[in-house]
Amino acid sequence: MDEKIFVCRCEEVTLEEVRRYIQMGFTTFNELKRLLRIGMGPCQGRGCREIVLREISRATGLPVSQLNPGTFRPPSKPLLAGLFSIVESKKRS
Ligand code: FES
Repeated sequence: MDEKIFVCRCEEVTLEEVRRYIQMGFTTFNELKRLLRIGMGPCQGRGCREIVLREISRATGLPVSQLNPGTFRPPSKPLLAGLFSIVESKKRS
């Protein structure tokens, strides 16, 4: 059943994958991020970071407050290409 639960919807990473990698010894968010691309989707971990940290906490026995939450970047949002020409025309005027 866990293989069907998506922890990271952006990168389509399941709970089963997260638990398997934690059992293999990858117990930091950044390690899981590098291996599974978790937290690297458009929301930059807004949807999955807390869930993954709770799984690491459960497996290691450390409270979430003592875990490194990993590196953050602002969420990316697609922009219309036409916006760039508007910005350029405003720069010229
Ligand atoms: S849900 Fe994981 S990066 Fe968006």
